[in-house]
Amino acid sequence: MSHLISILDAEGKLEAVFEMAADFKADLKEGRFQERLRHRTLAMIFEKSSTRTRVSFEVAMTQLGGHAIYLGAGEMQLKRGETIGDTARVLSRYVDGIMIRAYRHGDVVELGRHATVPVINGLTDLEHPCQVISDLFTIREKKGGFDGKLAYVGDGNNVCNSLLLGCAMVGMDISVGRPEGYGPDGGILEKAQEIAEKTGAAIAITEDPREAVKGADIIYTDVWVSMGQEAEKEERMRAFKPYQVNAELVSAADEPLIMHCLPAKRGYEITDEILDGPGSIVLDQAENRLHVQKAILAMLMGE
Ligand code: CP
Ligand code: NVA
Repeated sequence: MSHLISILDAEGKLEAVFEMAADFKADLKEGRFQERLRHRTLAMIFEKSSTRTRVSFEVAMTQLGGHAIYLGAGEMQLKRGETIGDTARVLSRYVDGIMIRAYRHGDVVELGRHATVPVINGLTDLEHPCQVISDLFTIREKKGGFDGKLAYVGDGNNVCNSLLLGCAMVGMDISVGRPEGYGPDGGILEKAQEIAEKTGAAIAITEDPREAVKGADIIYTDVWVSMGQEAEKEERMRAFKPYQVNAELVSAADEPLIMHCLPAKRGYEITDEILDGPGSIVLDQAENRLHVQKAILAMLMGE
């Protein structure tokens, strides 16, 4: 793995990431630190807001013995027209890795083309690979593996796209309940189906949220209005209303675990009762971003 721009870049490496992350997690609980990235630096470029991604990457670098630099894209020369290529080539002379959260997936691909150090996608309009690798780690931790079915209910967005690919890669069944016109990316769905044929994962896309969650071991949702889609807020609120993850919808599955990448819009895509309920594993999901990112960083930037 030289970059992690799509979750597909982790093909064949997921099990190794999970094992390393479990090791980092166990060590941290015992107060031990593996300083695998001593004197290494990660540049973190953010075009959009972040709480979890920013903090977990920065803490991960500190605990690995390295350092992270936060770069708000609006304060960089990028904003004044410096090209992505020049930015990539210059940063590659200073740092050992670049993490970027960007609006356009193509910009991250472009950064990766010019950088001579690993580039990590910290979320784009198309994918959120670090989130989903970490979510798969959480599922493995809670369920002991990937037997069973994950139901994603809501917007077919970046998280949904990476989940489709990720579930297909590990052989977990996934069904997506979404309104017509708000489905996952067509190219991603095709790729996920191609992978699923080899791994035996079943993929279903439906307009009916109850059908999606039927028999699900896990129900996953995300915001109805992702960063950058604020202008579509009203029409999205109308379209997604029947897709709220609430007690009634959850009762159509048999005591499923509840996942959400966070931040949540409480009372919209999910109710307080479900987000804070006994099946919710959202805080474990958030915590695991730290342990899994350490594994990703050590693999990409280590010896
Ligand atoms: N889940 C996630 O990526 O959260 P942030 O937007 O806070 O980084
Ligand atoms: N789909 C959301 C995820 C945030 C972590 C967004 O892109 O805003």
